[in-house]
Amino acid sequence: MQIWITGAGSGIGKALALRYATGGHTVIISGRTRDKLDAVRDEADALAGRIIPLVYDVTDDDTTKTSSELLADLTPHLDLVIMNAGTCEYINGQTLDPAMFRRVMDTNFFGMINTTNVALPLLRKATSRPLLAGVCSLAGFIGFPRAEAYAASKAASRYLMHSLRIDFSDFVDVCAVNPGFVETPLTENNDFPMPFLMTADEAADRIQAGLRKRPRELNFPRRLTLALRLAQLSGGLWYTLMSRQRQKQLRKESA
Ligand SMILES: NC(=O)c1ccc[n+]([C@@H]2O[C@H](COP(=O)([O-])OP(=O)(O)OC[C@H]3O[C@@H](n4cnc5c(N)ncnc54)[C@H](OP(=O)(O)O)[C@@H]3O)[C@@H](O)[C@H]2O)c1
Repeated sequence: MQIWITGAGSGIGKALALRYATGGHTVIISGRTRDKLDAVRDEADALAGRIIPLVYDVTDDDTTKTSSELLADLTPHLDLVIMNAGTCEYINGQTLDPAMFRRVMDTNFFGMINTTNVALPLLRKATSRPLLAGVCSLAGFIGFPRAEAYAASKAASRYLMHSLRIDFSDFVDVCAVNPGFVETPLTENNDFPMPFLMTADEAADRIQAGLRKRPRELNFPRRLTLALRLAQLSGGLWYTLMSRQRQKQLRKESA
């Protein structure tokens, strides 16, 4: 297969790229940092895998056209695209900073729109039915403290995947991938408990295996997914418990 993975210089994207490359596929990897991409390519080289780095900032609307051309120079078609580039910022205190919201939405939501636009012409050229996957998050399922920007961006990108699955169903399958907590640079500064935390390698295994079935949604780990589904069904209980916990924390911080 010819595969493109965004945000593959670290974390889940890197683990996925190395898995697919060592499985005999050609993987184009993107991110903003050339050195990180080259290091992943070198790691794959040592394992006899084929990885091609392409510097591409998913937030840059202007480079969408040139990126399409650069990508087309690297591959005649794409069979699988994993839109994985992402960022996470939490609100601080009780104010909402619009610039922070824009940064998060720009990468996690509008980045997927740019990436989809770059990928579609090459997905259309696939010889068998291709797959477009967007890495969203279980955080998009329900309200979490301080996650106003991150969780909203992930809920939006999840919805985007669902609509794309309908509108482009003539030639491509579309999947929303919703991981729970994964140990990566994105979560290394989290100062709250992360239940069922898994490694990036474990997450990549789940994604690679799950995408073979081309589901509308790929949610994992199962126990966290189930807990959040129950929280959704609990009506106000989740929000009562979360609010109590958050207010207690705020009182502690201001004491
Ligand atoms: N870790 C978790 O617990 C978790 C849970 C659910 C979902 N996710 C999602 O999984 C995806 C991968 O995250 P991760 O945990 O593996 O974190 P990560 O290691 O920080 O990976 C994110 C990657 O995205 C790239 N990136 C950021 N902004 C970009 C931009 N504007 N254009 C292109 N690339 C950009 C970064 O590289 P550069 O900085 O070099 O561009 C980085 O390599 C994200 O979408 C994240 O929201 C993570």
